[in-house]
Amino acid sequence: MKEGLIVVGAGTMGRGIAQFFLQSAIPVTLIDLSKDILAQASEEIEKRLFRLEEKGKLPEGFTNQQLRQLTCSSSLTGHRGKLVIEAVVENMEVKKKLFRQLAEAYDHSTIFASNTSSLSISEMASTIPFPERLLGMHFFNPAPIMPLVEVIEGMETDGGIVEQVIQLLADLGKTPVRAIDTPGFIVNRVARPYYNEALKIYGEKVASFEQIDRILRGAGFKMGPFELQDLIGIDINFATTCSLYEAFHQDPRFRPSPIQEQMVKSNRLGRKTGKGFYHYE
Ligand code: NAI
Repeated sequence: MKEGLIVVGAGTMGRGIAQFFLQSAIPVTLIDLSKDILAQASEEIEKRLFRLEEKGKLPEGFTNQQLRQLTCSSSLTGHRGKLVIEAVVENMEVKKKLFRQLAEAYDHSTIFASNTSSLSISEMASTIPFPERLLGMHFFNPAPIMPLVEVIEGMETDGGIVEQVIQLLADLGKTPVRAIDTPGFIVNRVARPYYNEALKIYGEKVASFEQIDRILRGAGFKMGPFELQDLIGIDINFATTCSLYEAFHQDPRFRPSPIQEQMVKSNRLGRKTGKGFYHYE
């Protein structure tokens, strides 16, 4: 990994993944269509690394040194890296188009990974000339902190590449878990009915969302389902539920909630827009 890695998409997850690799002393190129988002992302990464350094969790001088290893760019081409991880919006057509562009820009020795929460790795891989080099690397939010990473093997993914990625993540202190390519993999398959039931209880006025969060925190969850949706992004959470609902042929267990849909349409996306179920400064 001396050549570093490339992260495409500098939103909630892309910037977290970039920070995680920088913390591990690996050079990162962070790419996004939006220059404003790139500027926000690099500012946030810088702040978080300095905070870790102040707390003594990173060696003195590490942040300044590592920030020189971060390149931000709005162009997909002209960068060096043997691993490209995409963390753009949860939309199959957008991801397929991106992988087609990446396959033209990077050679056959590159490993391509998607941070998708739910979409088919095999379908994404079918659009590029070397499908065996594409796999899922599903980080959890916040990426620098959460140890779990689902490593998803598509129908054609080379087993050797899966092993290589698992080893890399383990060496960097993550907990990689191998998953097969089914809608939502493992965690999101379990999590969808959980969010849906919480939304139903709230919609039926059985309890307020604050109460539901408080009760689940009391039951041992680190965060309740509504504060977690705000952290993830209501749009991303809704897109993931829609994707499982369609993939399982409209199985009612995964039916998306009208509450979430209305929030997405009103741009109440959670922390990223300052308003979701809760309000943020
Ligand atoms: P986000 O909406 O915060 O960020 C997406 C970014 O991608 C935006 O900055 C956008 O400008 C950029 N983008 C869109 N199309 C692009 C393109 N063609 N080239 C370059 N940049 C492009 O989304 P978020 O939450 O970071 O999610 C990204 C992916 O990670 C999704 O697939 C999502 O399902 C997955 N994921 C999200 C988690 C979460 O908690 N938000 C957790 C785990 C996975």
